[in-house]
Amino acid sequence: MSDSACGPDRNEPSLAGARQAARGLGSREGWIDPYPYYAALRRFAPVHYDESLGMYLLSRYRDCHHVLTSQVTGVPSDAWHDQTLPNWREHPAAVWCFTSLPLQGRADHGRIRALVNKAFTRRRVTSLHPTIDRVLGALLDSLQEQGGGGQVVDLQEVVGFRLPLTVIASLVGVPDEDLPRFRWLFSDVLRVMDAWVDPTTLARADEAMVEVRSYFTELLRERRARPRHDLTSSLLAAASDGDTVSDDELLSLIILLFEAGSETTTLSIGTGTYALLSNRDEYDLLRADPSLAGSAVEEIFRWDCVGQRVVRIAEQDLELDGAVIPAGSVIAALLGAANRDPEVFEDPNRFDVRRDGTRHLTFGAGIYGCLGFELARAELRAYLAGLTRRFPDVELAGEPVRREGFFLRGLDTLPVALGTRQLV
Ligand code: HEM
Repeated sequence: MSDSACGPDRNEPSLAGARQAARGLGSREGWIDPYPYYAALRRFAPVHYDESLGMYLLSRYRDCHHVLTSQVTGVPSDAWHDQTLPNWREHPAAVWCFTSLPLQGRADHGRIRALVNKAFTRRRVTSLHPTIDRVLGALLDSLQEQGGGGQVVDLQEVVGFRLPLTVIASLVGVPDEDLPRFRWLFSDVLRVMDAWVDPTTLARADEAMVEVRSYFTELLRERRARPRHDLTSSLLAAASDGDTVSDDELLSLIILLFEAGSETTTLSIGTGTYALLSNRDEYDLLRADPSLAGSAVEEIFRWDCVGQRVVRIAEQDLELDGAVIPAGSVIAALLGAANRDPEVFEDPNRFDVRRDGTRHLTFGAGIYGCLGFELARAELRAYLAGLTRRFPDVELAGEPVRREGFFLRGLDTLPVALGTRQLV
């Protein structure tokens, strides 16, 4: 490893500091609060090759953005998966995670993304707004029923989990009565994406994936026989209309849309509410001025993003600010670090609902960037408007439980008390 790869600050203490920060990121403290470690990485070596991880860690906004949008970076190949989980082909959860759309090479990715772009249109997302309002209204009623008498209520269970899941289900065509079974299925499957996964967790991930596959295989079979006005039927129609996607690719895509459309937004609702309630002035500001909903949503996305890192492979030598990353290297763009880069965001550790923070990298960037960001935004906006209007006094009422694992960041529970003023 050449020193030039360690960024502009190349002396030994800075390398030791960066190594320590990278180790910290992998510790329990780093899982709970990675931000001090990101700041240390940025300070000591913003382009840091970590020998124990075997990859470059990028902690500056401009480098992360460059790598995500570069023509000379690609997604991890099967060869890399062979190294991280040698027998991954025998594990259904790993097969799905490692071969679904975000990890397809450029040509296949372009082909499948073109198909989904035909069916997942802006018009379709806009047409979901009344569904979002209806589902949210019922969930806030339910929150009031469960917590209206002063009882502590788990906001993640009652609203955070159900809102995105019910909305994406109505889009994809999954009936409401089937939703409870999805409560933990995808979080179990996605543990495969963690850098270190133990055999018990892997077995649980596989079991969950077998159930998910069988559910969506049946859904596709039904829609083939009797199409409806849902996304699954539209994708089947587009696929039979000259687009070349295999049945397996279609199945994997529907599962991805269902998973990506629910888990990530659920976690954002939890971390966003937590940020607002632990920075009470910000909650009160938003409540007093609903026109801040747009900037508040972006600040929630920036402040503590769900997907903390995206991995890319350098297809050619890549120069970043004087450091040369050799072709074939694995690169982790640390999105959570980029979103707190003081070069781009003033006073980045302050949670500020008035900030114009739309430049965050929470949805990635470039051709692999998030397909569903408008849906996520619409759900978060409606949620914030509803919560602040109906529950002006809501407050934290206990320690939330953080999601295990490093791949997705967020809260699994969020106990709150609704307070005395509760509006209908
Ligand atoms: C707060 C919510 C969300 C966050 C933070 C988020 C984040 C991301 C990120 C970072 C990526 C890029 C991954 C990469 O480059 O490897 C991505 C891709 C993707 N997201 Fe989202 N997402 C969210 C909501 C949604 C929703 C609501 C959908 C709706 C279906 C969705 C569907 C997808 C899909 C299909 C991809 C793969 C795109 C591709 O590879 O072409 N996401 N998301």
